[in-house]
Amino acid sequence: MATFSEIAGIVSSKAAEVSRLLREAQLPEPTFNETGAHDFDTRHHQNADTEALRHARNALINAAQDLSHLTMGPVDYLCSLSWSAAKIANLGSLVRLDIPRRIPQGGSRNLSDLVAEIGLPELIISRVIRYAIANGMLHEEPIGVISHTAASARLAIDRDMHNFCLMWSAEISSLLVKLPEALARKQTLGNKGPEAAANLAFPEYVNLFDYFEKRTDAAQRYSTYLASRAKIPCWSADYLIRAWDWDSVGSGTVVDVGGSAGSTSVILARAFPSMHLVNQDVAPEALKEGEANIKQLGLNSRISFAHHDFFSSQTVSAKAYIFKSILHDWPDEACVRILKALLPALKDGAHVLIGECLMPGPPALRASAWDYEAKRVEDQIMIAGHGAHERTLEQFQAIFSAASESFRFNGVKEDVDGSVFSLIDFVYHPSK
Ligand SMILES: C[S@@+](CC[C@H](N)C(=O)[O-])C[C@H]1O[C@@H](n2cnc3c(N)ncnc32)[C@H](O)[C@@H]1O
Repeated sequence: MATFSEIAGIVSSKAAEVSRLLREAQLPEPTFNETGAHDFDTRHHQNADTEALRHARNALINAAQDLSHLTMGPVDYLCSLSWSAAKIANLGSLVRLDIPRRIPQGGSRNLSDLVAEIGLPELIISRVIRYAIANGMLHEEPIGVISHTAASARLAIDRDMHNFCLMWSAEISSLLVKLPEALARKQTLGNKGPEAAANLAFPEYVNLFDYFEKRTDAAQRYSTYLASRAKIPCWSADYLIRAWDWDSVGSGTVVDVGGSAGSTSVILARAFPSMHLVNQDVAPEALKEGEANIKQLGLNSRISFAHHDFFSSQTVSAKAYIFKSILHDWPDEACVRILKALLPALKDGAHVLIGECLMPGPPALRASAWDYEAKRVEDQIMIAGHGAHERTLEQFQAIFSAASESFRFNGVKEDVDGSVFSLIDFVYHPSK
């Protein structure tokens, strides 16, 4: 393992490399000031050598996290891990109360005005805001005058980031915080214990999807979150474009199974102007939202929406079927049923594409690796939310073989362009 001084050396040299790459792209160095709201946002950094910058930046984040971890030592590090819930609760309070958007860009608000506008006691709001400041989210100068930092400005101007943080601070963190109790109950009750932490977080519902089906407010938050997440670099669905030979579909049809409000279909329809897409889901809110969106985008002649339960027989015959972030929600036995339900519609040569995190095999690495941490986080959500899991390539191959011996593994494109997702291709070739 690297020593303290070696890690400090890596921090220094990687910081210099990031700085040089930014300078070469004529971009400013990152700043905590409000002007840094778009730092490292590839949508605004088209001149940068994105690949080199991504590698240097990841290496710097990893080394800087290791240095901070080492400098804390085990006691302070355990304290900081234990405090994570306070951080997410504070972020959630900012988002729920819409505090960032109440502060003008390039300006400031008096704390007393904010308190009056929000309509909660000053004793509460001033503490929420001052803890947010401690977390780098806002700035107070002079006393009682609140302005933006880069992060709060980003939350104020970027609806996708707002939706992402909203869902994380609501349903996702409620699930995760119940995981230890769910595991302890399983330990004592065995099969009579809860199937997932979701059963403890939302006890009136059969499972997480039942909760989303019956709670329209949550269903809307969920479909908006999924559409927003697909635009955030680490989870960006743009990776799909470069991950497979979509031109081979020509003007044929691709079915997005469990496609929610159709963010994947929109990305593919825009990139491949001849392609036709069918977006299937069981969530009425998501289908409604998606239909309205494609009308606005003028894509309704090439994308259609259909209510379809992926446990019942597939009715659309297509060149390719994509399952993005679907199988990880289900245990193996259910995945086999989902894949078997496709068989009645599959023609020889049809592709079944899986867009998911591909879990690395053991040994595990310290999760200071930014790209690696996102996969571990997704996997924890799957245990807590559904009693399910992210998979290794071998685990995907096993469920496809169990569904039909006519599925052949046809290749994988891993972690495309820094995305947490890989695209795994299976082709259907029934023996004659
Ligand atoms: C994790 S989301 C993934 C959504 C989308 N593919 C994406 O990548 O953003 C899982 C989706 O599966 C849908 N779903 C759950 N059960 C389903 C079922 N039985 N049949 C069809 N869709 C289902 C949910 O409504 C939700 O939209």
